[in-house]
Amino acid sequence: MSETQVIDAHGEVIDDDKRDFIFIATGAAAAAGAALLAWPLVAQMGKAADTLAAGSVEIDLSKVAEGQQLKILWRGAPVFVRHRTAKEIAEAEGVDISDCPDPQTDDERLRPTPEGKLDPRFLVMIGVCTHFGCIPVGESGDFDGWYCPCHGSHYDTSGRIRKGPAPKNMAIPDYVYISDTVIKVG
Ligand code: FES
Repeated sequence: MSETQVIDAHGEVIDDDKRDFIFIATGAAAAAGAALLAWPLVAQMGKAADTLAAGSVEIDLSKVAEGQQLKILWRGAPVFVRHRTAKEIAEAEGVDISDCPDPQTDDERLRPTPEGKLDPRFLVMIGVCTHFGCIPVGESGDFDGWYCPCHGSHYDTSGRIRKGPAPKNMAIPDYVYISDTVIKVG
């Protein structure tokens, strides 16, 4: 299981036992373009976090360990940043997408680094079920990706819908790599 914490908008741990996610709010500093790492941001947020405007946020992927997932609140929506394991990548790339309700290759769900390469380790997506908007649970479901317990939608390790009532893959947010290891969301 991932070595992470759930942090609320006030920077306080709200689910220390589960430790599935880091949950941070985007803020004015991010909008101003400061390079923000998840943990330092969490440490600095304090009580002012809920007063900060949502804008763009920069994330240093080198701080996200393999098997770890960040959960970032961005413009009111959770964004998942997952450092996938080799097994998860192999599963995502090995899918015959003709069998998928919303066919999309794993590569199509990634964004290029400044050198024009894809880094399949990092999946960035809006963590909202495309059925009725619940937040799926990671490392769950029939395809080892995410499972939405609201009505039983199963997503694979690329966030593609594979089974259940959700009609579409989880969406990819507007983001770019600004270096080999730093992305800017928004
Ligand atoms: S909201 Fe996710 S399955 Fe219905």
